[in-house]
Amino acid sequence: MRKKIVAGNWKMNLTREQGTILISEVVNMVHDEVNSRVQVVLCMPFPYLGFAKKLFQSQANIALGAQNCHEKPAGAYTGEVSAPILRSFEVDYVILGHSERREYFKETDAVLAEKVRQVLANGMTPIFCCGESLELRQSGDYIGFVKQQLTDGLFHLSAEDFGKIVIAYEPIWAIGTGLTASAEQAQEMHAALREHIAAHYGAAVASHTTLLYGGSCNAKNAPELFACPDVDGGLIGGASLKSREFVNICKSFPAQG
Ligand code: PGA
Repeated sequence: MRKKIVAGNWKMNLTREQGTILISEVVNMVHDEVNSRVQVVLCMPFPYLGFAKKLFQSQANIALGAQNCHEKPAGAYTGEVSAPILRSFEVDYVILGHSERREYFKETDAVLAEKVRQVLANGMTPIFCCGESLELRQSGDYIGFVKQQLTDGLFHLSAEDFGKIVIAYEPIWAIGTGLTASAEQAQEMHAALREHIAAHYGAAVASHTTLLYGGSCNAKNAPELFACPDVDGGLIGGASLKSREFVNICKSFPAQG
């Protein structure tokens, strides 16, 4: 059975007081309402990582996430944060290769491959983001493009290490725009990515890989998206800043038979 995950990506939002209130609301609602098999991840700005975990330590299915890390383990990189530092603050998950980082910080798949290595070497789980622009979608070969992102960013890994990765498909045209991929569009891509993984690592690894959808996902569209056979949860931006909305998304998986 694949892990079901809902990860909130706060991006560069919320001051300490606002974030602390959000965490405590989410913790209480997750405790009361969310199936304990759903893994909730809160990916926060770096300054939170020093104190946030103790706010939800009592809640076993909430994990701490960062939004990036540097590709080197230590050194003279002013302003950067390494994977060993993150691990020492008990971070569990690290978002890597978000399209905003690829675009604004020029992160390439080659650099991302190094970051993935660092995160794994320090015992954390990468949430590796991929996804095509609107131009690519319209050009037709959007599936080939996203498959190539996986090949370049991840396929250097052994099957054992690949088995520790979470992938988030986030079409750039759907991020923060209110334009969600339809359930059919999400399923088409997720199925293609799973096949691509199977072709490289075999069917067993592919069927165990958690594939999240991200891009204007909210409590209204999540049930349809999460009902797709190859969609195992979501990476949530804007809607993760509102406790009620976010927790409702965490409750959007179809009932298990
Ligand atoms: P959004 O962002 O939910 O605000 O579209 C998703 C993301 O960028 O991870």
